[in-house]
Amino acid sequence: MKLLVTGGAGFIGSHFIRHILRKYPGDSVVNLDKLTYAGNLENLRDVEGDSRYRFVRGDICDGAAVREAMRGVDAVLNFAAESHVDRSILGADEFLKTDVLGTFTLLEAARELGISRCVQISTDEVYGSIERGAAKESAPLRPSNPYSASKAGADLLVSAYWTTHRLPVLITRSSNNFGPNQYPEKLIPLFITHALEDRPLPLYGDGKNVRDWLYVRDNCAAIDLVLHAGVPGEVYNVGGGTEVENIVLTRQILRLLGKPESLIQPVKDRPGHDRRYALDCHKIRALGWKPAHEFGAALAETVRWYQEHEAWWRPIKSGEFKAYYARQYASGA
Ligand code: NAD
Ligand code: TYD
Repeated sequence: MKLLVTGGAGFIGSHFIRHILRKYPGDSVVNLDKLTYAGNLENLRDVEGDSRYRFVRGDICDGAAVREAMRGVDAVLNFAAESHVDRSILGADEFLKTDVLGTFTLLEAARELGISRCVQISTDEVYGSIERGAAKESAPLRPSNPYSASKAGADLLVSAYWTTHRLPVLITRSSNNFGPNQYPEKLIPLFITHALEDRPLPLYGDGKNVRDWLYVRDNCAAIDLVLHAGVPGEVYNVGGGTEVENIVLTRQILRLLGKPESLIQPVKDRPGHDRRYALDCHKIRALGWKPAHEFGAALAETVRWYQEHEAWWRPIKSGEFKAYYARQYASGA
């Protein structure tokens, strides 16, 4: 198969490209990525010499660039997005452009070129906060913040292209991913790297918000399965099955690093902060997927990766991240 992966220089996309190249010797991948602050070619240094891999710098909102990259491919997987809730609260323009208009641009090109499989990488956040129980794929979309609203908008467009045009699309909605190479603005890599620097860990509100953590390699396996065995027009939830309160997770990270709990600094809550996400994953399990990595072991491996890869995260934290973080705390958000 020849795949177009968008956003492949980011966290999940780079793991997915490596997964495909390792598992399918006959496959090739074109990676179309704009290289925003979150795109990092260091994430794919080990595959850049592979003749089956090609990187193209480009914007998914640019119709001509998209058609050029898409020509001759069998399947398209859209990972490209603005992906951080706190940034969407500071300013949502880029979220609407990339997440909604970018997805629309990909759908139009896929229709024009007759692509036979398009996978949209979405999120559990489109269902909004769930106090009890778990969201099935048929649950209404009730996004709470500009990020999840832009992802929900994309999901609705993708579904409409199936209903109206019979474009063979599939959607995966996963829970919070973690693992190596995650930009250190997200909870787990932010707290690991801050703790390594002996900086305070800004825990929002009462710290009792719950997320269902999924190891990134398990998500890649699920996306691979949906790509090959999913039913066009369908949505698949992908949850790690590990619900943890933020405060519990924070203590676990500190324990793994041998750092004191006095580093925890409660800060003002995020506006519109979703209390809990939870997914009903019967559908993807019936297709033959379950997480292969135990949460505690995967978290320990992730902590070790950041300990051993300072050369990856130190330049990020002294570069673009620094300006973002100053803005985040100057805004009182
Ligand atoms: P990320 O922020 O690490 O990477 C996003 C990538 O997209 C970057 O390489 C960036 O350069 C690229 N990009 C951004 N705008 C672009 C544009 N206009 N054109 C081309 N490339 C562009 O994100 P991630 O955490 O790897 O998430 C990947 C996808 O998975 C996103 O769609 C996100 O909504 C979804 N998702 C993420 C999580 C999570 O926990 N990280 C959970 C569920 C779903
Ligand atoms: P995050 O990694 O931003 O993912 P999302 O908001 O998409 O779930 O945050 C995970 C949880 O951690 C969420 O409940 C917000 C909380 N959080 C903090 O308490 N402090 C922080 O500095 C960050 C970034 C997140």
